This record gives sequence, C-alpha cells and structure tokens, in this order.
Amino acid sequence: MKRNKKEWDEFQIYLEEFSRLSQQFMARLDTEKVAKIDVSLPELLLPEQGTDFSKCIELLEKQIIPQLSAARGSRYWAFVTGGATPIATMADWLVSIFDQNVHKAGDSVASLVEHQAIDWMLELFDLPRTFNGLMTTGGTACNFLGMCVARQYAGKLQGIDVAKEGVFALDVEIFSTTPHASTIKALGMAGIGQKSITKITSINHTEKMDVDDLKAKMSASHAKAKIVIASAGTVTATDFDELDKVADVCKQHKAWLHVDGAFGLFERVANGSNGKTKGIERADSITVDCHKWLNVPYDCGTFLTRHLDLLEASFDVPARYLANDSSTPDFMSLGVENSRRFRALPVWMTLLAYGKQGIKSWVDKNIQLSKTLADWIEQSEDYELSYPCQMNVILFRINASDLTNEEADRKTIELMNKINKDGRIFVSPGQWQGREVIRLCISNWQTDDSDIEIAKKLLTELADSKSSRVQT
Ligand SMILES: Cc1ncc(COP(=O)(O)O)c(C=O)c1O
Repeated sequence: MKRNKKEWDEFQIYLEEFSRLSQQFMARLDTEKVAKIDVSLPELLLPEQGTDFSKCIELLEKQIIPQLSAARGSRYWAFVTGGATPIATMADWLVSIFDQNVHKAGDSVASLVEHQAIDWMLELFDLPRTFNGLMTTGGTACNFLGMCVARQYAGKLQGIDVAKEGVFALDVEIFSTTPHASTIKALGMAGIGQKSITKITSINHTEKMDVDDLKAKMSASHAKAKIVIASAGTVTATDFDELDKVADVCKQHKAWLHVDGAFGLFERVANGSNGKTKGIERADSITVDCHKWLNVPYDCGTFLTRHLDLLEASFDVPARYLANDSSTPDFMSLGVENSRRFRALPVWMTLLAYGKQGIKSWVDKNIQLSKTLADWIEQSEDYELSYPCQMNVILFRINASDLTNEEADRKTIELMNKINKDGRIFVSPGQWQGREVIRLCISNWQTDDSDIEIAKKLLTELADSKSSRVQT
C-alpha cells in the first residue's frame, strides 16, 4: 500500500473510525470484565507492503480491543490506578495531533504551557514558588531525577561534579524506611546502588519512619554527604513520614530530602498543608504522579525541586545545534529525554477545566468510598481488615481465626485470584507484616457508591454464609 501526503485526504475517515472505536470501547467499560486475564494474539507476520486501513481496523477491533483491560474504568482497583477524565483524554489525543517536541523554547508556546502547568501544580498543592520542575513519564522517572539531582548535590559538597566525573569518588549515605520499589530502581540507575540504603526503623506496626532512629543513624554516619528518602503515602499502608521532623534532621545534617508523594501528595488537596504532608514544602525534591490521582492518561508525572540549577547541572549537555538564548533552562536540560512529548497539555487542561475544587471532589470521594468499603470489610464475618484504611488503600484478607497463618495466606491468594477472574473488580496482591493480603486502591475520578455495592455483592457471593468461611 502506497502512502504519501494524500493520505491526509482520508483524515475524515480515520477520525470517524477512531471515534467509533473510542466510543465503543468506552461504552463497554462498565459491562465487560475489568481485567482480561487469559489473553492471546495470533502470530502475524510483519507486512511487506503495508495493510489496508479497513483490515488494520478489523484486526484492532477483533484481536486487540476486546482483550484490553478497563484500567480507566471505575472498578480497576489494583496498584494505584487513576482513570482519565474526558478532558484529559481528549487533550492527550490532541497531543498526538499537535506532535510538538517540547525540548526547548523557541518554536512554539508548548514550553510556556509546561511552565504554567508546573506553576498550577504548585498552587494545587499549596507549595512555594521556590519549587520548579518538569513533566516526566511518571513516578519512577521522578524518583530517578530525584536521585540524580541529590547525587549532584552530594558531589557538590565534596567538590565533585558527578554529572561530569561520575560517582566513583562519591561518599554518600542514603537513609530511608519504606522506599517504593521504584526508588530502589532509581538508586541503581543513578549509580548509587540498589543496596545502598541504610534502613531506618519503622514505628511499631506501620511503614512510618522512626525519626529518633533517623537522628541516631545520621549522627553515627561518617559519610561526607547524606540523602534521606521519605514517603508521603507508602504504597501498601499509605503511611506518611513526619516530614517536618524529618526536614529538621536533614537541615541539621545538611542532608538532601527527597519525598515520594506519587499519590500521597493529593492528601494535601483533601486536607490542606497542615495535614499529613506538613513539612513537604521543606523538601529538596518531590515526586508526584499525574496518571494516578490527577487522572490524566499514562504516562505522566511531575518532578519538583527547589534546586533547578543542580538539576540542570545533572542533565545539561551543551550542543551547538541545540543552543538558544533563553535565560531559563530548556526542559531537555532538566531531564532524561532530549525529545519530549507535549505531556503537559492534558495536565494543563485538567487543572484548567476542573480546578482545585473539581480535583478535590474526586479525591475526597475516593477517600470516603474507601473508608465505607473498609468499614464493611471490618464488620464482615468472612474477611478481616489487615490495617486501618488511612486514605484510599484497603488491605484485607480472609477471616483467619481458626486457620494457621499459612492456610490463611494460601486461601487469601486463592481468593484474590477468584476476585480477579470474576472480573467485576480488579485488585492486587500485597504483603502486610509478613502475611499475604489483598490490596485494593481507589483513585478513579468516576468511582461511586454503585461500584462499592458491586464489590460488596461480589465479596458476599464469594463467602460461604453457612459456615461463615470464605469459599476458595
Ligand atoms: C509511592 C509510589 N512511588 C512511585 C511509584 C512509581 O510510579 P510509576 O508507576 O508512575 O512509575 C508508585 C507507583 O505505584 C508509588 O505508589
């Protein structure tokens, strides 16, 4: 099949077909299974001559679309999964239409949109304008930037420009209690090492940092530079480190404070700056995901730091053909990618269209619905709540009162598989205090009471009412 500029004459047909597929997909989100577990794809050979548009659409419609999950739907409760609002979805569609490369200023307004989106994010979270940042592909990328800029800071304290000279001579110690797996990955990628963390004890039966232990271990450390990785919302228990106290200790030791608030930062939208995130404004760098609770499509995060100069020192590589006379650093000099998608647009449109209160309304609702379901589980004879619901995560397992721990673990995993196979909701596994649990997290803007009723009905059906035991 020959392609040339004239293909755009068929644009109208493409629009109609892709709109039809979009509407069809959206219409089925509520009725189809949330996750498609048994999937397959026929062996297809790479076409030598290309494939007719109608045949492409047929393959997409028959082989791919029916096997996609309803991750954007209201009952996909695994991991921390946001949906995507209509505005964010269509803005993201336009990102492809516009196809801007937001690497540097000078050829369009796109960089200014990203700057404004970052400013609005600061306003949304009531963070000072001393922070600045950029859009990334998500939380992992933000944590990676966090480790890179922290390492640049550590080098600066020792007269080493890490970006230029490497980490070989760097003397740095990392302190953390419950770092997200992506931070461990980031430490490896940053050359500091996945095993480099000095573990700070958690407060009894939580994932929260024991600040006294942090003080003791930092005082005992002889490292020339120190980095503390704190959590604003751990992924399992949704615990928050006491950031104000942690910031005090960091100040005393001139340590870099990176806070992972991938989804927990949204607690600030619900409860303001004196809630669980109090003190985050004193961090040196912050991770926040947009494809989680901001409900924009994958993949999108925002990295924030008070040290743009060090971020630029970490990522800027001068090249004559890329030079321009802008006084603010270009986005390509602040992160991994040189060429960058216009991923600020869906964020900008979301903040514009829904405003602070619109976003707060779905965060509040998700928290309230999670508590409702957690209370129901706690009162049920068949299930037990493994940890009080702090925000939007529920940890539960089957009632294990007359089972050994091992039996209860096995039955809990079996139960989770049954729940996911049923397809009315989708949840993920977790571990709590060494025991298997089911982890359910609600971060979708459109989840409502009817979804909670569906979950209760499913959990009731899976329970054996006669013996008060869960059938697995
Ligand atoms: C606390 C926290 N940090 C980082 C991440 C990684 O984010 P992403 O999957 O967007 O890379 C997650 C994802 O669940 C998370 O919950």
